[in-house]
Amino acid sequence: MPAPYAGLLERYHDWLDLPAYTRPVTLLEGNTPLIPMPRLAEELGGGFELYVKYEGLNPSGSFKDRGMTAAISEALGRGVRAVICASTGNTAASAAAYAARAGLRAIVLIPQGKVALGKLAGALAYGAEVIQIEGSFDDALALVVEISQKYPIALVNSLNPYRLEGQKTAAFEICDTLGSAPDWLCLPVGNAGNITAYWMGFRQYHVRRGSGLPRLLGVQAAGAAPLVLGHPVEKPETVATAIRIGRPARGEQALAAAEESGGRIIAVSDDEILTMQRRLAAHGVWVEPASAAGLAGLAHEIAAGRFNPRGQRIVAICTGHGLKDPDIVARWSTPPRTLPASLQALTDALLREAA
Ligand code: F0G
Repeated sequence: MPAPYAGLLERYHDWLDLPAYTRPVTLLEGNTPLIPMPRLAEELGGGFELYVKYEGLNPSGSFKDRGMTAAISEALGRGVRAVICASTGNTAASAAAYAARAGLRAIVLIPQGKVALGKLAGALAYGAEVIQIEGSFDDALALVVEISQKYPIALVNSLNPYRLEGQKTAAFEICDTLGSAPDWLCLPVGNAGNITAYWMGFRQYHVRRGSGLPRLLGVQAAGAAPLVLGHPVEKPETVATAIRIGRPARGEQALAAAEESGGRIIAVSDDEILTMQRRLAAHGVWVEPASAAGLAGLAHEIAAGRFNPRGQRIVAICTGHGLKDPDIVARWSTPPRTLPASLQALTDALLREAA
């Protein structure tokens, strides 16, 4: 019998800087597919290789599970009994899932009314104590940082360094699958932990394996683009609620990573994000709005003549599953028709459509 898939901490044991007391808690996260997107590449001008790293296929439906297996495992090993985070939704669901797995108490703070249905449902289903804050994600983050400094409750936001340790494994997987680093990596940027972790991962892999380094194209939503504007945004707004963040905790590191890589951080409109979400779904990959931002940024730069993709190998990170935000699809899809339960009505409707 083949050995069962091990989960990230076991699989990358020698690559992760985790304390010896860490007690692995896994839901067999990671190992997500890198899906070739040749037709979408053609639509965007052609002449390049395009892949989607479909992180929405992690156990709780988002990329957060990679970092969470590490953060929860460290917290459990340290003897902590409760974990806390602020979240736009995905971190909440992931923390809730891994805390449940570990038998720990999970407390999550979310911005009131701004968390997509699939994420809230996840956090509740996994049994977290969910608290809505009359404020933004940034307000919630400030609160959880403070409480975790005063009480023995482990902070599992990406300020926690172990989150980045786990998260960087996605860079290893991409290099393993392609045989080297891609030329460009496009990804959404919110609190900026993910882009920071990718850069850590690619650099580490390059030092040990000579895999090369990608350039990073980080993409924010125009209404929540502090790293593009160069200052915090007090009232961030975007349809991509996952990245509705005005003060990214790892903003400085994200800017440094983009610059060091020879890439950049840009912003795209909500329309561009939803258009790309729809386009991706039309190719069989349904992701939540924020997850389409990386590719929307690529399309934006190509259209503006600032990016020549010719001959490049490009990977776009799709961070969360489409099921996370089912309501948003109503913005761009046609609602189902209702027909009488008769063959005549069905034939009429379908044939009329075909004509
Ligand atoms: N994509 C999705 C689907 C996300 O949920 C997030 C962040 C990001 C991209 C951006 O990643 O913050 O590391 O730059 N979600 C966090 C949360 C903030 O609370 O779930 P980042």
